[in-house]
Parts: sequence; C-alpha cells; structure tokens
Amino acid sequence: MKESTKTQQVGILGLGAIGHVIGAQLFQKSGIRLYFFNRSPRKKLQIQLPDGQELDHGIACMYHPQPIQLDWLVICLKAYHYPGASAWFKHLIGPETRVVVIRNGLQLTAPLSAYTSLSKLMPCLIDCPTQLADDGGYQQFQVARLMIPPHALAAEFQALFPSTAMTIEVVSDFKTTSWEKLCASAALGAITCLSGQPCRVFREEDIVELFRALVKEGLAVAKADGAKITKTYLEQEIEKTRHYPPEKGSSMLNDRQKGNQIEVTAKNGVISELGKKYGIPTPLNDHFTALLKMINQK
Ligand SMILES: NC(=O)c1ccc[n+]([C@@H]2O[C@H](COP(=O)([O-])OP(=O)(O)OC[C@H]3O[C@@H](n4cnc5c(N)ncnc54)[C@H](OP(=O)(O)O)[C@@H]3O)[C@@H](O)[C@H]2O)c1
Repeated sequence: MKESTKTQQVGILGLGAIGHVIGAQLFQKSGIRLYFFNRSPRKKLQIQLPDGQELDHGIACMYHPQPIQLDWLVICLKAYHYPGASAWFKHLIGPETRVVVIRNGLQLTAPLSAYTSLSKLMPCLIDCPTQLADDGGYQQFQVARLMIPPHALAAEFQALFPSTAMTIEVVSDFKTTSWEKLCASAALGAITCLSGQPCRVFREEDIVELFRALVKEGLAVAKADGAKITKTYLEQEIEKTRHYPPEKGSSMLNDRQKGNQIEVTAKNGVISELGKKYGIPTPLNDHFTALLKMINQK
C-alpha cells in the first residue's frame, strides 16, 4: 500500500527550553508544517545543539489562542503553566488532534483529560538539560532522551522525528520510570535550588547523604503507589549524582536564578501529598516544599 504523503500539522505549545529542543528537531523535517504557540512574543527559534550546531531561524509564533486544525499538539509547559493555558487547549485540540504532554512528574495528562480522549493523549518524560543562554537563545547540553508508555500513539510519535536526532524509548512500566525520575530530580532540584549552587555541592559527603535521604523518602511513597523500584536504583542514582559535572545546574536552580516560579508542587510537593495519602512520613520533602514555596511567594 502506498504511504500517505499528507503534510502533518504539528503545533508546539510553550516555546521555552523544551519547546526549542522539540522545535529544532521538527523544524527541518519534510512533511511537517510547524506552528509555534507561546505566552510571550518569540521571533526566533534559537538553540545551540549538543554537537555545537547553532540553529537561528525566524519563526511566526502565535500569542493569542485561536482555532487551528492540528494533527499533533506537543505541549512543553511547566506544571504550573497549565491553568493559564486552558484557552489554548480549547482552541487547538480538535477531535482528531493527537496530544503529547512533555514534562516530568506524575499524572502528566490529567489537566488535558477534559479536552480529549485517552487514546489521543500521551504522556512523555524527558531527559534533556537545556537552559537559556546569555544571547537569549537556548543551549541544549545532551541529546534528548524521551520516554513514552506503550500507547496507541507511540509508534506514530516516534516516526515524526528524524531517526538520529533524539531517542524516543517506549518503556513498559511508565509509572516506575516516572517515579524514578521524579524522586531523583526533586531531590537534586531542591538541594541545588536551596543551596543556590550547581552539582558541585555533591562533592560534599553530608550533601550526598541529604540527597540519599530525600530520594529514599520519595521511593517509599513510590512503592506505596505501585512503582517497582529495583534494589540497585538508589546507589546508582547516588553515584550518577556524585559524578555530574560540577557546573551542571537544575531547572529549579535556573528558575530561582532567573526569578521565575519554581516547580514545587509537581516535584517535592507531590511526594509529600502522596505520602500523606499512603500514610508514609515525608518530613524532608515537607520541609523542602515549605521552603521552596516561600521562594515562590517573594
Ligand atoms: N529545561 C530543562 O532542562 C528540562 C529538562 C527536563 C525536563 N524539563 C521539564 O519540561 C517542562 C518544560 O520545561 P521548560 O524548561 O521548557 O520550561 P520553560 O523554559 O519555562 O518554557 C515554558 C514555556 O511555556 C510558555 N508558557 C507558559 N504559560 C503559557 C501559556 N499560558 N500560554 C502559552 N505559553 C505559555 C512560556 O512562555 P513565556 O516565554 O511567556 O515564559 C515558556 O516559553 C517542565 O515540566 C520541566 O520540568 C525541563
């Protein structure tokens, strides 16, 4: 049978760090018409890729929600942006639109469930340290690694991207992978954000022990929630963290330094909240959540 040559209409909602990573990969792919949607004006797609290649292209980006028929909507917002983005969801999600939510944490698709059916809605985790550079563009430090569940949209989503640009892995136990990412990133993010220092803090043994205790707390809640954490996970994560480049930051630290809101509720906050639900004490995450919320209240 002849393959369909229909141009795919793909929208990216949220043209920040991750929106740029995704946009950069789809920008030059044939057979795709790309739309960009963002809250603040953006005139360019500007990013330095991990191989040093610089992309700097003028784009037409929309700032006001209006109806557009899309085959795909890829959402690259932070958790706390969702309530403010509902007008976009109403206008951009039609009955045939396939929606992919890229972010880390739990229950990624919950804010979208009122707009479409579960068969058209897929969560996606991402490993891809990327941050705003001094020239106003973004710098992507590593080839992106995306993780998706064995969902009806999985193969079609993989096929959207150039084959060598990033890895998009189907993980059989999405809940466990989500929890593993959450526990490590909430601990690393909270410690770097509150200390105001990048990963060089993990050269200090007492800080490594604090990281261990925070991750352990999260893992106890994860297990109560049904995640199947392997016995080796914690030590592996600690070793990884000890050996991160000393200058590596975190998105929570970046947000603090830029005066942006910090993603607290979706990280340490959700660990505390679910700890209460399952009767698992989470004193460290409770304290860190309270401190991080204070920074957001400034
Ligand atoms: N950055 C990383 O290294 C990294 C790595 C792994 C995972 N993640 C996760 O990926 C998710 C996205 O993070 P990010 O770093 O890409 O965030 P980000 O840089 O803050 O980008 C979010 C973008 O969404 C836009 N936005 C916010 N509210 C909007 C609205 N109502 N309508 C339209 N656009 C709106 C923002 O616009 P403005 O220009 O107006 O702010 C911004 O451009 C987060 O959950 C994060 O934790 C990030």
